[in-house]
Amino acid sequence: MKKLNGIKACVFDAYGTLFDVHSAVGKHRARVGAKADQLSMLWRTKQLEYTWLRSLMNAYVEFWQVTQDGLDFAMETCGIEDADLRADLMNAYLELDCYPEVKDTLATLKRRGLKTAVLSNGSPRMLKAAIDSSGLGDHLDGAYSVDEVGIYKPDARVYDLACAQLDVEPMEVSFQSSNAWDAAAAAHFGMQVVWINRFGQTRERLPGEPVVELRTLAELSEVIA
Ligand code: LAC
Repeated sequence: MKKLNGIKACVFDAYGTLFDVHSAVGKHRARVGAKADQLSMLWRTKQLEYTWLRSLMNAYVEFWQVTQDGLDFAMETCGIEDADLRADLMNAYLELDCYPEVKDTLATLKRRGLKTAVLSNGSPRMLKAAIDSSGLGDHLDGAYSVDEVGIYKPDARVYDLACAQLDVEPMEVSFQSSNAWDAAAAAHFGMQVVWINRFGQTRERLPGEPVVELRTLAELSEVIA
């Protein structure tokens, strides 16, 4: 397997990579009912679409709003009208499950002297809540939100933000994302990318090639030379 060379910092996407976005609906599955999986998939799809569209429309609002809008669209599509459930689903987004191998992976990288950080669409409040609830804070040097640049991934200013904050060149960053389009964009920007293909997705036809594809973060340290 190929290895990444000259890495100084490991930067992670948050949603879908560190945190399981489907655990929000998962926690309220019985109340959502038969359409739980459809609701969760549609919620995530619309949330991401709204980030891309708002970026193109030059109409940024923070990710909390975009996440609510995606949920409202998904609930209406699924024919679910329940204000209490809506509030509970949004609150669950602040306490998403983190994937089981995340903490050990971050600890291993830090022991090796590498910097670790999150780079995410999430607003600062959302990222802090998710990181705190999973107890990841001690294993991270930073959590950078697109909110600082007022535009969403995959705009180059977002990837640049992480480099500026960590004081590293793009080629010195190993960027991990389960979102294939995010992985492609970070590679296109110049980072060395490990695509965490958790869901066995098809490779995107976009500029930017990940160096390595893994199924989880568990083997990440082994591919960083
Ligand atoms: C994020 C989205 C892409 O965390 O999942 O930035």
